[in-house]
Amino acid sequence: MRLVLVGPPGAGKGTQAQFIASHLSIPKISTGDIFRDNVSHGTALGRRAQAFMKRGDLVPDEVTIAMVTDRLADDDAGSGFLLDGFPRNVPQAETLKKMLSAWDTRLDVVLELVVDDDEVVRRLSGRRTCRRCGRVWHSTFDPPAQPGICDDCGGELFQRDDDREETIRHRLEVYQQQTAPLVSFYADEGILLGIDATGPVDEITERALSALRRFIR
Ligand code: AP5
Repeated sequence: MRLVLVGPPGAGKGTQAQFIASHLSIPKISTGDIFRDNVSHGTALGRRAQAFMKRGDLVPDEVTIAMVTDRLADDDAGSGFLLDGFPRNVPQAETLKKMLSAWDTRLDVVLELVVDDDEVVRRLSGRRTCRRCGRVWHSTFDPPAQPGICDDCGGELFQRDDDREETIRHRLEVYQQQTAPLVSFYADEGILLGIDATGPVDEITERALSALRRFIR
């Protein structure tokens, strides 16, 4: 399956992506994770992306598209993938469509995770991420047994630079202006599925998988 997750910052894309991709046995490709990995390793790509990410702005399309084109050409993405965080605007969506069409394929479905702004702020202000394994926690909704330490690998948890309240608000504006138009773009293509992304994580995963069931081949 070739699947895209779309939704505002904090909708739970990363959280759901790991379960959905593992259930469907497809690679999860998260542009945010790839950028953060490059920032932490101080690569040229990371240095280019860092200031945009810190402000909550989109990294320029030419940088993002080149990175995704490379990643989608890897063998493990040949028979399916889950994209989390890409496309992020209509030009990226148009480019992805052309790229897949040149490879004689297309997206099967775009899953929209629907949550309101207040829930986004609650989720992002409590988000903590493991420095070692990348597992995402929440200080209230999904706390580790010992504060600041990842249950899975014992790594140190940190708060993302862009998870401060004023940056969260800016990211929501960027989402409304640049990313939300993708919802009607993909509705027009006839491949948009929306689900309510509030409630316990495992119930949302069930909701997502049952909505996706008719696309599984
Ligand atoms: P990116 O990493 O993609 O950030 P985002 O879209 O803002 O999404 P988030 O990672 O913040 O949230 P999420 O929906 O994954 O939520 P999560 O599962 O973590 O991008 C970061 C930056 O990179 C961008 O701002 C941009 O600069 C750049 N970038 C990336 N892609 C780009 C592109 N294509 N073009 C240009 N620039 C790009 O959950 C959030 C919290 O909520 C967690 O703590 C979690 O534990 C908790 N939670 C999850 N589900 C639930 C639930 N059901 N109930 C309660 N809590 C929950």
